[in-house]
Amino acid sequence: MNGRPIFLFNSTAQRAAVFREAFARDLPDIIFADDAATVDPDDVRYLITWKIPADLDRYRQLEVVFSIGAGVDQFDNAGLAAGISVVRMVEEGIISMMQEYVALSVLALHRDWPAYAAQQSQGVWRALPARQASERRVGFLGLGILAQAAIERLKPFGFALAGWSRSPRAIEGVESFHGAAQLPGFLARTNILVCLLPLTNETRGFLNAELFACLPQGAALVQVGRGPQLDTPALLAALDTGHLSAAVLDVTDPEPLPSDHTLWRHPKVTITPHVASVTQPHTAARAVIDNIRRHQAGQPMIGLVDRARGY
Ligand code: GLV
Repeated sequence: MNGRPIFLFNSTAQRAAVFREAFARDLPDIIFADDAATVDPDDVRYLITWKIPADLDRYRQLEVVFSIGAGVDQFDNAGLAAGISVVRMVEEGIISMMQEYVALSVLALHRDWPAYAAQQSQGVWRALPARQASERRVGFLGLGILAQAAIERLKPFGFALAGWSRSPRAIEGVESFHGAAQLPGFLARTNILVCLLPLTNETRGFLNAELFACLPQGAALVQVGRGPQLDTPALLAALDTGHLSAAVLDVTDPEPLPSDHTLWRHPKVTITPHVASVTQPHTAARAVIDNIRRHQAGQPMIGLVDRARGY
């Protein structure tokens, strides 16, 4: 153990190059390492990774595990010592990409693009009844950083915005609902439902037949949370009866979605391969360096996970 703390990087070589340069420039008192085989495990204080490595126990002085992505559901929290802090990736790149994707999806659904795509495939020139954005009620499941950022992007269009979260949240210009008791009321007023919930034991299978039944006839779904939150047969049934009009799915269960899966060819479903929002190395390096400085100064880190809650 030589005393200089090590930041151990476990992701792609391309991202490593960007992080290495940023650490050398902005945080020279920390050693950047991306080869676990070459480090003294007792010097490793910080680790960034997507999955928790099987040999984590060798890092006995580990203080913080950073997720390379926005979620931490892929971490097996049970395997981490209680004193280790877990931090989600909160960085400008992820935030702005999610703003783009949600705005794109909500606007496409608002302007009936799935229905027009179906008409185009049949060579049908027919105007559908148009609604103003102010008449379109968009509802967010989850009101964390990404949802709030997406809401800010949608505000100028004039949509009627609402959000539901586990505990109360007040956001200007947004009708807020919370807790199980207010979920049906939130769903009943929502034409376009955007799911940005974290994956936890409580949200697994959350988008199910019972939830869809609470949405008004013709409602649509944008799923940018995590695949296992969606009961896929329930979604297909709701689309086939016409209760739901369309779904945009960036996440599925499983991923990758097998090429013969029914979802791929469903005319009311649009699928993207988990690309809505992807960690951008330059902004991510800046966010991690900022968090390490906060940690060193005894200040709260941005994206610190409440390990009991799971997000
Ligand atoms: C993507 O879903 C991420 O967790 O960054």
